[in-house]
Amino acid sequence: MDKAKITMKTELITIDFTKPLAGQLTLPAEILAGGGLVAFPTETVYGLGGNALDADAAGKIYAAKGRPSDNPLIVHIARPSDAEKYAYTNALYEKLAKAFMPGPLTVVLPKRENVPCSVTGGLMTVGIRCPGDPVARELIRLAGVPIAAPSANVSGRPSPTAASHVADDLNGRIDCIIDGGEAEVGLESTIVKIDGERLILLRPGAITPEMLRAVCEEVVLDNGILDRLPEGKAPEAPGMKYRHYAPRARVHLLRAKDENDDTFDEKAIAFFREKLAQDPSVGILCYDEHLPFLQGAHVYSYGEKADDRAHSHLLFDCLRRFDETDAAAIYAVVGKTEGIGLALYNRMLKASAYTVIYI
Ligand code: TXA
Ligand code: MG
Repeated sequence: MDKAKITMKTELITIDFTKPLAGQLTLPAEILAGGGLVAFPTETVYGLGGNALDADAAGKIYAAKGRPSDNPLIVHIARPSDAEKYAYTNALYEKLAKAFMPGPLTVVLPKRENVPCSVTGGLMTVGIRCPGDPVARELIRLAGVPIAAPSANVSGRPSPTAASHVADDLNGRIDCIIDGGEAEVGLESTIVKIDGERLILLRPGAITPEMLRAVCEEVVLDNGILDRLPEGKAPEAPGMKYRHYAPRARVHLLRAKDENDDTFDEKAIAFFREKLAQDPSVGILCYDEHLPFLQGAHVYSYGEKADDRAHSHLLFDCLRRFDETDAAAIYAVVGKTEGIGLALYNRMLKASAYTVIYI
């Protein structure tokens, strides 16, 4: 991005969890109330916050990220019942709020007049989310306004799961960064749109389709979650059309032809070894169990094979680490698409521009 734009001093506040939060969040809450931008931790990824009722603050968010202005921002609230102030809620919203909020779920509802169209990318709907992270909720409460917040990365980079990632992308472009430690989930929130009695899943996340079905029988997946969209077709969540989460090197996913194949790990190790023999600087994203068999400059694991929470927690950090290397290609193993595996696979499909090798 253009270096001339790096003009302001970015305040860094590191949260001390042994002390009360309120005193530590006074300054960033004042910045938000005054129209400034603050990056803050949530349980999914770090957000870049601004006053959601202030069109100018929204403009600053789009400028700092280099984000297309047709891509709407999620509005964050301190209590699930605050949704009613900014959107028209209904019985299904109440059920979702009771089951999953505060937590990693965004619900798209018809917006009220007070939410500027620049926040919703011109849409008549608004995405509402009450984050589970106590730092995020206390910050919103103290600011006294709802907070519009996309992920706190420069557009097109992987979402930030640590304050250092935010600083790498946005230092000098925003007023303040709050360091509240690593984001627990590591993938962005599940987004659903309420469509009468059914839910349309616009973006998979830690609240899985199975969990949503316990509250609402009919959950349908929007186009583009598991397949590339046909030419000229747009997904319901405008942001899902962009090539997101893309490291500089070309990413190839390695997936089992048959999910129950017990020899998959041996095949994956053999595949990785062949690639490393051809080029030792190639990027490998594998499981802990594979590590003893692989040697190369950029071989990273994202946890034990069975630990899908670890995979989601570490994915974006690994993608950012690859960006700091000279690896020309990345080969990444992917597992089952159930539970949070669906969200993980969706993000990896985007990072790889749908390049999947079946073995
Ligand atoms: O976990 C998260 O959701 C994080 C944290 C910071 O809360 N935020 C986040 O924001 O991921 P962002 O801007 O990176 O992604 C928001 C997604 C985009 O794909 C956008 O198109 C979609 O939400 N979205 C927002 N409002 C919408 C609406 N009214 N209708 C459809 N999609 C919407
Ligand atoms: Mg984002």
